[in-house]
Amino acid sequence: MSQPEVIDPKILSANASFQSGEFYIAGLSASALAEEFGTPAFIIDEDDFRSRALNFKNALEGAFGERSGKCYYAGKAFLSIEIARWIAELGLSLDVCTEGELAVALAAQFPPDRMEFHGNNKSASEIKRAIEIGMGRIVADSEIELQRINQIAGELGRKQEILIRLTPGVEAHTHEYISTAHEDVKFGFSIASGSAMAALKMASELGNLILMGIHFHIGSQISSTEGFDLAIRRAFQLLSDFRSDSGITLTEFDIGGGYSISYIEQDDPTNPREIMDHLAKTVKKESENFQFPHPEISVEPGRAIAGPSTATLYEVGTVKEVILESGSRNYISVDGGMSDNIRTSLYDAKYSVALANRISKAPKIASRVVGKHCESGDIIVKDVDLPSDIAVGDLLVTPATGAYGRSMASNYNHLPRAPVVAVRDGKARLIVRRETFEDLLGLDL
Ligand code: LLP
Repeated sequence: MSQPEVIDPKILSANASFQSGEFYIAGLSASALAEEFGTPAFIIDEDDFRSRALNFKNALEGAFGERSGKCYYAGKAFLSIEIARWIAELGLSLDVCTEGELAVALAAQFPPDRMEFHGNNKSASEIKRAIEIGMGRIVADSEIELQRINQIAGELGRKQEILIRLTPGVEAHTHEYISTAHEDVKFGFSIASGSAMAALKMASELGNLILMGIHFHIGSQISSTEGFDLAIRRAFQLLSDFRSDSGITLTEFDIGGGYSISYIEQDDPTNPREIMDHLAKTVKKESENFQFPHPEISVEPGRAIAGPSTATLYEVGTVKEVILESGSRNYISVDGGMSDNIRTSLYDAKYSVALANRISKAPKIASRVVGKHCESGDIIVKDVDLPSDIAVGDLLVTPATGAYGRSMASNYNHLPRAPVVAVRDGKARLIVRRETFEDLLGLDL
């Protein structure tokens, strides 16, 4: 018999399911995984991750044909040496935004010419390292940074290929803290204010820079296309004005990431091929409108590749019923919390959760799944109906935690960070081990 609270399959990774009430992923049960690796643990369905990565690349290439640029995996969603190897093997490119992410990529021998460097405050040493290793593209975010890249490239006797990050003034439909391209943000050069045009001119005049094109990233968890359409139109307008002023025709558009996934049943996940086909039409139409050569299009999906691939396993430690005027609520405390999933408290993000180790026929009651941190806001799933007999030692699973879960994990309250276990064809292996107290104490002097 299947679990009554079985989670909608669209939220699970491709090889995850519930069998007789137990959560299975790539043929391994939640109980077996918890026993071998402990909890909390991130379990990544390797084939799911790989196929989403490849699908996105194929969608880009299928839609844009010979005008497709690179499909960069946005490493900030989740990066480890093993993940960088998968991305390299699959032929995708990689977006890094700090020297730390770059170090992971280099440890995986990721080809530097397939990397792109982001960030609104890249330090001189980060830029130096990027140029030295032969970074494919640096995305410039401010005039100070343009000067900095130019100067360092000069000192190294190199010429660096760059993109200019635009702020196209588009507010994608998403939570405010994860929108990045409306005007009042720290990122990029505003088109509306004229600073983007000034940056293009400056970049084209600085002798050690090779200006290739533009970049924008309009937000996160976006499931409609209007924001992209508008940003693309504005980018064409800008580049066509720049061509009139300077005689220079830029040929690369990097249109960023932000493609949505399903966390809960109500979410509308992006279908990569559908959105790429739509954007290919938009680009073709606008390039005709502006009589501007069709640019080469690159994308930077992070969440859409990593997010659905991973589920977090927790063990229940305490259950407490709280009596409220409106009824009662079960507080189910697990052995992780905001240190492995900050998204609920930071963005009011919604997750699905289910009992993962057995069938329960008990009635469902209003519940809240919380962590073990000393903070009331330490909530993983705020409002959910779960079986009333969930007890100490039960396992819970929250799917779709692969993006911005482990990568935003912290050591709050000195909780060691959770491991990442890759599962494939009935076999499990650690790709990031659990942090130890020795790791933590090793920092103290
Ligand atoms: N490209 C750039 C320049 C970005 O800034 C980002 C995300 C991406 C690509 C990838 O976006 P994705 O496809 O993963 O949505 N911590 C937040 C998300 C912050 C996103 C920051 N930039 C969250 O947990 O939702």
